[in-house]
Amino acid sequence: MKNFVIAIDGPAGAGKSTVAKIIASKLGFLYVDTGAMYRALTLKAIKEHLPFANEQKLIEMARETEIELCQKDDKYGVILDKKIVTDEIRTEEVSKATHFIASILPIREILWKMQRGYRKKHNIVMEGRDIGSKVFPDAQLKVFLDAGVKERAKRRYLQLKEMGVEGNIKEIEKEIELRDRKDRQRSISPLIKLPDAIYIDTTDLTIPQVVDKILSLLPVENLPAKTEK
Ligand code: DC
Repeated sequence: MKNFVIAIDGPAGAGKSTVAKIIASKLGFLYVDTGAMYRALTLKAIKEHLPFANEQKLIEMARETEIELCQKDDKYGVILDKKIVTDEIRTEEVSKATHFIASILPIREILWKMQRGYRKKHNIVMEGRDIGSKVFPDAQLKVFLDAGVKERAKRRYLQLKEMGVEGNIKEIEKEIELRDRKDRQRSISPLIKLPDAIYIDTTDLTIPQVVDKILSLLPVENLPAKTEK
């Protein structure tokens, strides 16, 4: 029997990472953040001064890149060509440029292969934009997490504040709307709500409420026993 996959898709700021990490930890599954992989390749392209218009060079770069997602207790890290880039991939510069990398099909194919590889050894909770549609169309549970744009902007604003950065909520909202449009309207693997995904609007829900809702959707009889990662 294939390992268990919980696919969590949705726009930025819907709460995917927070919820996916908690669920993975509760079930003893591996948590996989696919956005971090697109971000890592973007960071490398920026560092190597590769123009985003040169798809061929970007594809070659992706083929020669090693990305590792690591986890120790409740801490998650990203390693790019043996260097830790966990914080570096979260800058605004990387966030704004990732759509270039994300819209190149051969690059997505390279990352899909890596992403599918995790299922060989683990039960997983994987989050992204195309997990249910492209990476694991046969996932045992598909969830689409959403939230209103104002709420997502507020969450981002508070997150930045916690990091000591004073953001402008109106600008954050505009930025989120722009990124949404890019994710939903690109021709390759756009963010879509699939007919077989469970839609959850998290706007008025707390994190524990979202977690409980997803856990309640699991087919308990088919769940693997909790294992050590
Ligand atoms: O989830 P995130 O904000 O870290 O994702 C970063 C970018 O990568 C975002 O622009 C969408 C893109 N992405 C994607 O195209 N497909 C995925 N499976 C995950 C992320």
